[in-house]
Amino acid sequence: MTRKQQIYERLKQDHDKIRELMAQIADTSEDQAGQRRDLFARFRTELLAHAQAESNVFYERLEEYGETRMKALEGETEHELVEHMIHELEHTSPGDDHWTARFQVLQEILEHHLEEEEEEMFEQAQDVLSDPKAMELSKQFEQEKSELRQRL
Ligand SMILES: [Fe+2]
Repeated sequence: MTRKQQIYERLKQDHDKIRELMAQIADTSEDQAGQRRDLFARFRTELLAHAQAESNVFYERLEEYGETRMKALEGETEHELVEHMIHELEHTSPGDDHWTARFQVLQEILEHHLEEEEEEMFEQAQDVLSDPKAMELSKQFEQEKSELRQRL
């Protein structure tokens, strides 16, 4: 049984993809609005499908245990904030400096959120979830994410 197949590695894969897309977007300027729009569309779908599947499969499970409940509720609150900011960005022109400022703040919040998950939440989760459970959650996550992706 390799740890590769557990939920933690699966989520980390997505996190790295999200970080990569954010770095690419941060590299664009207001006069590259078309490129920004394309990258943002990919980022939005990837992030929303990831966050919603993570909430439905992983956080929901962690809310059941006293040891992990608060971290999961905190994570859920951060997801709500991030979704709100994505919505705001969708209604701002990528050629506007307000877009640049909003994206910058979103990136800071997300970097912090992903790091906290990987460094604190995953560790706490490993104390309450068995290895087979962590593997099963990985499969459930995959399925949930692909279903959500089709509806985004
Ligand atoms: Fe995540």
